[in-house]
Amino acid sequence: MSLDLRKWLDTVDEMGELKHVAGADWNLEIGAISALNVRKDENSALLFDAVQDYPKGSRILTCSTSSLERIALTFGLPQKSSAVQLVSAMRGMLPTWEAGFKDFPQQTVESGPVLENVRSGKDVNLFALPVPRWHDKDGGRYIGTGDAIITRDPDSGELNMGTYRIMVHDEKTTALYISPGKHGRMHYEKYFAQGKPCPVAMSFGHHPLVFRTAASEVPSGSEYRFIGAVQGEPVKVVTEEITGLPIPADSEIVAVGWVRPGHTKMEGPFGEWTGYYASKERGAPVVDVERIYFRNEPILLGAPPNRPPNDSTTFNVIKNSAMLWNALDKSGVPDVRGVWMSDVGQQQLVIVSIKQRFHGHVKQAAHLACQNRPAAYHGRYVILVDDDIDPSDIKQVLWALCTRSDPENDIEIIRRAWSTPLDTMIRKPTDKLLNSRAIIDACKPYEWFDEFPEDIKLDPELEKQVIGKWGTILNL
Ligand SMILES: Cc1cc2nc3c(=O)[nH]c(=O)nc-3n(C[C@H](O)[C@H](O)[C@H](O)COP(=O)(O)O)c2cc1C
Repeated sequence: MSLDLRKWLDTVDEMGELKHVAGADWNLEIGAISALNVRKDENSALLFDAVQDYPKGSRILTCSTSSLERIALTFGLPQKSSAVQLVSAMRGMLPTWEAGFKDFPQQTVESGPVLENVRSGKDVNLFALPVPRWHDKDGGRYIGTGDAIITRDPDSGELNMGTYRIMVHDEKTTALYISPGKHGRMHYEKYFAQGKPCPVAMSFGHHPLVFRTAASEVPSGSEYRFIGAVQGEPVKVVTEEITGLPIPADSEIVAVGWVRPGHTKMEGPFGEWTGYYASKERGAPVVDVERIYFRNEPILLGAPPNRPPNDSTTFNVIKNSAMLWNALDKSGVPDVRGVWMSDVGQQQLVIVSIKQRFHGHVKQAAHLACQNRPAAYHGRYVILVDDDIDPSDIKQVLWALCTRSDPENDIEIIRRAWSTPLDTMIRKPTDKLLNSRAIIDACKPYEWFDEFPEDIKLDPELEKQVIGKWGTILNL
């Protein structure tokens, strides 16, 4: 497996899942085309070239991992899988990948495609790239949506790679918005506490595996190792001269610079993954960009958030469900039969199905599901269902909710949990960053499970017979 985005694009093209778009406008059109594209279940990755006002060869890729096939390709998982099968496949591979961390530290190399072009100091111009304005109420043009922002913990030396939105202020400065509690933010806060500037390297174009890893709750400091373990070979990095940070040698575009204590500027609003412009405009740290590296004819990777479904929803269901399921297993919750972090609610709606084994089993599973890292940030509802309910089928889940829960007894509220300025239900983001969670027990009560009204089932034998005899009438 190679981390070269162009080889990945060639394969996607061969699979018939790449569309080339010429002449679209960076101002709203690319955002709108991408938003409409991912509303279709069968969508292609979109490679924009000859963007309005820009020469041919300044390119943007969107919808990179918005289909099951492209997710499978990116992570080396079986093709032609359903979403539920991909959750199982990813869940099965996670322990192998994690066990591989020790074997795949990043490998420093002298050079790489990212160094093909270098612009420093007065020659830095971020607007030389066709940076989109994605949504009409955005406060600016966002170069970073599918990015990977690299920082280092000043105390432990641990590296982090996170996807954080980046708005361009002018040719040489950007904003850096990171929610409280995320690793990149903890890093710059530690530098600031020591009165020092924080070095930052921002990769804006790369293989989707880099992006999706940066945007995942993989253990802190292990992103390069995770990517190495998935692809079965170490990530090649170049030590960047100004910041000393290791940058992927195969990146398309990397900008480096400094975030300085006390230097903030207004950032936002931005159309966010919840489907709102919730965090509004507010001060965010500024990155002074000192140098930019890029390949010939560079490709910017965009992943515009939107009201679901958006660029990230299909991937997030697979990854978050797999990670949370494994986390529940590791926490010792027995007989979890399914986990589904729905594409509509994302981490705000977590559904877990279990085979109940003992009094309190539901509560144990629900609390741990609610606060485990893949679901802890900005969660809202956790619904527990029995193992006869498919958690990926929202109609079955709502049926269980309506017939197996009693609001007075089965909804529990957890208060003062980890939230964010992006939370639509926090009125003033600066006031508080806490929200509440509802845990809903939509399982049959364990103490009278056997007395619970029997549900109507179609006998499988009868179903087969009827389909055999009447299938043509039913179009089956
Ligand atoms: C398209 C996209 C944009 C994101 N933008 C932000 C952002 O602006 N700020 C933020 O804190 N998290 C953002 N996230 C979520 C983080 O990338 C995610 O929580 C990741 O795990 C953070 O890395 P960390 O845990 O190492 O801090 C975004 C995720 C995606 C998929």
